[in-house]
Amino acid sequence: MSRGFLRLSMLVLLLSAWLAFSPTQLPGQRCGTPPPAGSSSAPEGQRIFATSCAACHGLDARGGERGPDIANKRELQQLPDETILRIIQDGKAGTGMPAFGSLGIAQIQAVVRHLRSLQGQAAAAQLPGDPERGKALFFGKHGCSQCHMTNGEGGFIGSDLSSYAGTRSADDIRSAITDPDKNLDPRKRPVTVITLNGKTQTGMARNEDNFSLQILALDGTFHFFTKSDLRSIDYQARSLMPSDYGSRLSRQELDDLVSYLMTIGRANAVRTSKKPPSGRDDEVKE
Ligand code: HEC
Ligand code: HEC
Repeated sequence: MSRGFLRLSMLVLLLSAWLAFSPTQLPGQRCGTPPPAGSSSAPEGQRIFATSCAACHGLDARGGERGPDIANKRELQQLPDETILRIIQDGKAGTGMPAFGSLGIAQIQAVVRHLRSLQGQAAAAQLPGDPERGKALFFGKHGCSQCHMTNGEGGFIGSDLSSYAGTRSADDIRSAITDPDKNLDPRKRPVTVITLNGKTQTGMARNEDNFSLQILALDGTFHFFTKSDLRSIDYQARSLMPSDYGSRLSRQELDDLVSYLMTIGRANAVRTSKKPPSGRDDEVKE
């Protein structure tokens, strides 16, 4: 009787010791201290991607035998998060892309964030140069910002380049910089007017109609003319943009500038481009 009781209490002791020291976490739960809120999804997304997606799309998402490249594909990079989330949730019927709705919304969101970071790495890898150096050249040494605005900063005689490069190839952007007169949009040709009393003004035509013409000069001032007061209106074949950047920029500098424009262009491509207001209060009446 007492030996039986002893055995029982030994068993209880062993059992409670086992309960106290055995790992009580279920597989899939994180061990140790959780990372700070906000950053916690990256490793989780990475883990889910590795186990659920990489077999088909590759660990770097650049494609495998059973799934396409989902890191480099431009259209996919530009889809909003919700749309990607829905593709993952519902799969694509009739293709090899299974539905992952059973993962739950939080986990799918974590996967989307991980996919975004892989897409960012892929995009950065494709840049021909260094966007940070390009930005410094744009606003500094090469004076692009005297005429062009990016993300709300810079001049406005040239077009806003915030989203210009988002959908163009590096080669096209290079030639736009080195050969500004080629394929110059007729509406973007500079204009020179001479008034009846002999005053000359050159700049970009803004708000032209049958009776009047507004000119934005290189110094940023607006000049308003009534056409009956003008002796001549002459549209020029050459852009106001300097045509010698091809010789002034080193190959590296050109690639850095292209990379800067591509980086902001991609970031802005999904947003609708906002044009600065055309009327300004420094308008001058001639
Ligand atoms: C069994 C293979 C397989 C697995 C596993 C898989 N995919 Fe896919 N996935 C595909 C295939 C094949 C397509 C192409 C579908 C098509 O033809 O439109 C695809 C398409 C996609 C697309 C849309 C691509 C586009 O251009 O429309 C996304 C996004 C995507 N997968 C993400 C994921 C994510 C994230 C996971 C893991 C949660 C995952 N996939 C797991 C095979 C797979
Ligand atoms: C003196 C003013 C001026 C400077 C300086 C200048 N640009 Fe331009 N740029 C223009 C004008 C004017 C155009 C043609 C009309 C337009 O697109 O606004 C143009 C056109 C462009 C275009 C083609 C835009 C399009 O929509 O087709 C790109 C790209 C460009 N410039 C980049 C640059 C870069 C990069 C620099 C610096 C290395 C630079 N520009 C310096 C005035 C300038």
